[in-house]
Amino acid sequence: MKVLFIGDIVGSPGRDMVFDYLPRLKRKYNPDVIIANGENAAAGRGITKTIFDELLRAGVDVVTMGNHTWDQKEIYDFIDETDYLIRPANFSDEAPGKGMTTVSRNGVTLSIINLHGRTFLPPHGDPFEKADELVAKAKELSPLVFVDFHAEATSEKIAMGWHLDGKASVVVGTHTHVQTADERILPGGTGYLTDAGMTGPYDEILGMKKEDVLYRFRTNLPVRFEVPKNGRAQLNGLFAVLDDQTGKALKVERITINDDRPFKG
Ligand SMILES: [Fe+2]
Ligand SMILES: [Fe+2]
Repeated sequence: MKVLFIGDIVGSPGRDMVFDYLPRLKRKYNPDVIIANGENAAAGRGITKTIFDELLRAGVDVVTMGNHTWDQKEIYDFIDETDYLIRPANFSDEAPGKGMTTVSRNGVTLSIINLHGRTFLPPHGDPFEKADELVAKAKELSPLVFVDFHAEATSEKIAMGWHLDGKASVVVGTHTHVQTADERILPGGTGYLTDAGMTGPYDEILGMKKEDVLYRFRTNLPVRFEVPKNGRAQLNGLFAVLDDQTGKALKVERITINDDRPFKG
């Protein structure tokens, strides 16, 4: 099975990159399943039903989330209505939605799990314990398991990679919006990348207007960050080929596209 993953989609520049480039990525990689992190898809904060539907129409099969899951309140109204929008599994048991889903293609099933880190982030449940629980559940269906670990610390993400080596097919990090260059297949057969990066504005700071972010760094005064309306954009992600029988990764390839065409406001 071939899996394409798209790093945190930020605002309309990120969505436009997905709409522009997904057809080309499909032609190049011919993925069976497309997963995208959509926690910043709505103007940098959360996701709406309209945007979720647009991403599905563009070809995304499953959307994962992160610390921005609840930023758009309307998610409460639709997260339980779909199987294809998941939020970190180690959120409170009382949280709406779920943290794992499955997609089947030609008789092969892939489980997708979303987890949230605890280092430099709010103290959710233990992601390592939750990973064990859900991977064991996923393995009852199929050996193919894809994990999006939404975490700040590179060390915590690397720890999850080793924790799941030989158990998950892929462990990919999200959240920092900065792609790392450490893609590899761990000795047990788990495809790994510390952070997939971000799909959105290229000339800004983590997808938000650089002037605002700079102002906050310089002054420590409150300022509301915004996704810029014009400039250049990027798409970051990961492509993985998995062995349908063993669930092990056969190949992982980092995807980095920097589009020189300014996006329209
Ligand atoms: Fe993000
Ligand atoms: Fe995040």
